Amino acid sequence: MEKFIVFSLHFLVGSLFLLSQVQGSVLGAVLESDKQALLDFANSLNHSRSLKWNEQFPVCKNWTGITCSEDGSRVISVRLPGVGFHGPIPENTLGRLSALQILSLRSNGITGTFPNDFGNLKNLSFLYLQHNNFSGPLPLDFSVWRNLTIVNLSNNGFNGSIPSSFASLSQLIALNLANNSFSGEIPDLHMPNLQLLNLSHNNLVGSVPRSLQRFPKSAFLGNNESLLNYTVLDSPIVLAPHEHSPKGKTVGKLSQRALLGIIIAGSVLGILGFGFLLLVCILRTKTASDFPGKLEKMNMSPEKAISRSQDASNKLVFFEGCNYAFDLEDLLRASAEVLGKGTFGTAYKAILEDATMVVVKRLKDVNVGKKEFEQQMNLIGSIKHENVIELRAYYYSKDEKLMVYDYNSQGSVASMLHGKRGDNRTPLDWEKRVNIAIGAARGIARIHTENGGKLVHGNVKSSNIFLNSRQFGCVSDLGLSTIMSAVAPPIARAAGYRAPEVTDTRKALQPSDVYSFGVILLELLTGKAPVHTTNGDEIVHLVRWVHSVVREEWTAEVFDVELLRYPNIEEELVEMLQIAMACVVRMPDRRPKMSEVVKMIENVRPAESTNRASSEAKSEDSTPMPSSPGI
Ligand SMILES: *[C@@H]1O[C@H](CO)[C@@H](O)[C@H](O)[C@H]1NC(C)=O
Ligand SMILES: *[C@@H]1O[C@H](CO)[C@@H](O)[C@H](O)[C@H]1NC(C)=O
Ligand SMILES: *[C@@H]1O[C@H](CO)[C@@H](O)[C@H](O)[C@H]1NC(C)=O
Ligand SMILES: *[C@@H]1O[C@H](CO)[C@@H](O)[C@H](O)[C@H]1NC(C)=O
Ligand SMILES: *[C@@H]1O[C@H](CO)[C@@H](O)[C@H](O)[C@H]1NC(C)=O
Ligand SMILES: *[C@@H]1O[C@H](CO)[C@@H](O)[C@H](O)[C@H]1NC(C)=O
Ligand SMILES: *[C@@H]1O[C@H](CO)[C@@H](O)[C@H](O)[C@H]1NC(C)=O
Ligand SMILES: *[C@@H]1O[C@H](CO)[C@@H](O)[C@H](O)[C@H]1NC(C)=O
Ligand SMILES: *[C@@H]1O[C@H](CO)[C@@H](O)[C@H](O)[C@H]1NC(C)=O
Ligand SMILES: *[C@@H]1O[C@H](CO)[C@@H](O)[C@H](O)[C@H]1NC(C)=O
Ligand SMILES: *[C@@H]1O[C@H](CO)[C@@H](O)[C@H](O)[C@H]1NC(C)=O
Repeated sequence: MEKFIVFSLHFLVGSLFLLSQVQGSVLGAVLESDKQALLDFANSLNHSRSLKWNEQFPVCKNWTGITCSEDGSRVISVRLPGVGFHGPIPENTLGRLSALQILSLRSNGITGTFPNDFGNLKNLSFLYLQHNNFSGPLPLDFSVWRNLTIVNLSNNGFNGSIPSSFASLSQLIALNLANNSFSGEIPDLHMPNLQLLNLSHNNLVGSVPRSLQRFPKSAFLGNNESLLNYTVLDSPIVLAPHEHSPKGKTVGKLSQRALLGIIIAGSVLGILGFGFLLLVCILRTKTASDFPGKLEKMNMSPEKAISRSQDASNKLVFFEGCNYAFDLEDLLRASAEVLGKGTFGTAYKAILEDATMVVVKRLKDVNVGKKEFEQQMNLIGSIKHENVIELRAYYYSKDEKLMVYDYNSQGSVASMLHGKRGDNRTPLDWEKRVNIAIGAARGIARIHTENGGKLVHGNVKSSNIFLNSRQFGCVSDLGLSTIMSAVAPPIARAAGYRAPEVTDTRKALQPSDVYSFGVILLELLTGKAPVHTTNGDEIVHLVRWVHSVVREEWTAEVFDVELLRYPNIEEELVEMLQIAMACVVRMPDRRPKMSEVVKMIENVRPAESTNRASSEAKSEDSTPMPSSPGI
């Protein structure tokens, strides 16, 4: 399960494929049989849209709608919504994908009964078959799918009774059987984890069992009136994770699954219970319109929606190698949650119907026309580097400019460093901070090689740095400053990163990225935010503060107390501080180039994955630091 989450969030298809190459023939053989099962499926079920499954190309890398396990050995997810399948699912095809965890075939024209051989898919967690033409009864024994988390069979022609074996699915969070022809009485389902239930518009009779009376009446609408003869016992706001997590346990200790459950329940039902608590502190200062809801509802007035659909050329443009299978409509229907308001717009986490999570950035004040916008997007989208967060897709219309990125569940370096300290927060150790610095530096250096060596990141700050799968820094939100309106009166927070020579954000150059990166290094070293207040409410700029401390007396006072507990790193701390100071010198032409900064940081830690053996070994092969101004 954990694997699935990490994978589906990052879509690390490139590196996964490499891995699968390396791991050789045993894994290859299993994958080969998964591939054959998929081909058998596609070849024997008519579909009106091309799948672009080319046998010559790697399944895991770029077959539409397919994702593989982290080691690239098995297909774990098949998402083919609205492909125009019609006819029954052929026996012995999908049923052979025994490692499958997510299956979405929603909104097709699939007929026939529930496939018998799905019983082989023991790891199945998410099943979306809604809006098809399935018929006949469901299998009696659902207990074979112990990991089922979301089941959506709504809007089909299933009939017969609702299997009481659903009760054995302890992980089930959502069950939607609405708009079918189920008959008989509703079985007594004791399912504490179930958050969402919809049995509306069937032919059910009798009464709602006590265990399900916590669900609202709308869940049972459109059946025999007798069903509605109960008073709601308990609101469904009782969130299960509270029940099986002992009092006092923190979010960090909840299982991934429970968290996912909260996210799903939270986004579908609105902001509820625990999810709400998590959001309160983030949203406290924001307006009501920022609360989770549908992207479309939240952002687009009806008129805008109309003008959008009239212009057929306004499509979500995906970059090559991206195997997300959704379209603009899916995106706008997704539930959304504000992640943060940035310099150039607001970022949302969007959860699509098939549980795919992406970050959608809504740009405000784009200052260029469509052509120039597209050119810049193509430039940004062409950068493929392990330390640069890849732009997956973009959308341009007169009223709306969107950018789509993978979602990163770990949060930004800013939140890791400046999130609430104490309690159960795990401090970032020195090893991690060095890796963040190395990764971010490499990412920015890579960006600086683009566009004839002239591309500027333009918005380097710790809230735009994330961790990649190897836990190295990875930069986001690049290349926008030139296409946006100037960010006038410096927002206090951004100002902490802005090089002194930058008066117009559109005209920032590479040395100002180096300055901003220097501020991030100082953050990593001091644990302090770029602009913060002291006890006496005095506003302190990090760069000035570090200068003053260093000038007055060389003490360990500058360094984050959380770092002082690690032995034998003082020398490295000082070297890193020197690099940071070199980056933030006042004169732009005296700052090192980003590529030089990379080498300097690599010299602080010669081997990427050092065991903490010693810093003595290190100092032998590290070259002396160039002496830096200011120290
Ligand atoms: C279900 O998920 C758990 C992890 O959450 C995993 O260990 C297990 O193998 C999965 N499959 C089955 C059939 O339980
Ligand atoms: C697929 O479509 C073709 C032509 O439209 C038809 O002849 C064939 O019977 C269909 N196959 C199935 C399995 O429905
Ligand atoms: C798959 O990869 C090949 C070669 O890299 C590329 O030509 C093709 O367009 C890709 N297909 C998809 C659907 O991404
Ligand atoms: C099911 O998932 C678990 C862990 O998630 C894995 O160990 C197991 O091999 C999977 N089963 C199959 C048949 O792939
Ligand atoms: C589903 O089947 C019914 C008849 O069984 C048919 O009238 C209807 O058009 C079908 N719907 C789709 C989407 O194929
Ligand atoms: C199931 O599908 C229906 C119809 O598309 C949709 O309204 C509902 O939100 C889905 N429910 C879940 C839990 O995915
Ligand atoms: C379910 O539907 C099928 C036809 O699709 C029919 O033959 C069968 O009798 C129905 N079963 C029940 C219990 O209504
Ligand atoms: C059931 O069908 C009706 C009308 O077709 C639709 O309005 C409703 O949203 C459907 N219910 C679900 C849960 O999809
Ligand atoms: C169930 O679906 C119906 C539409 O078929 C909808 O009106 C109702 O609000 C839904 N109830 C719940 C609890 O999701
Ligand atoms: C509804 O249920 C009651 C009692 O179970 C039964 O008498 C009645 O005939 C049912 N009505 C319909 C329309 O099925
Ligand atoms: C609803 O319940 C009340 C009391 O429990 C009963 O008197 C009444 O007949 C019931 N109505 C229906 C439609 O079942």
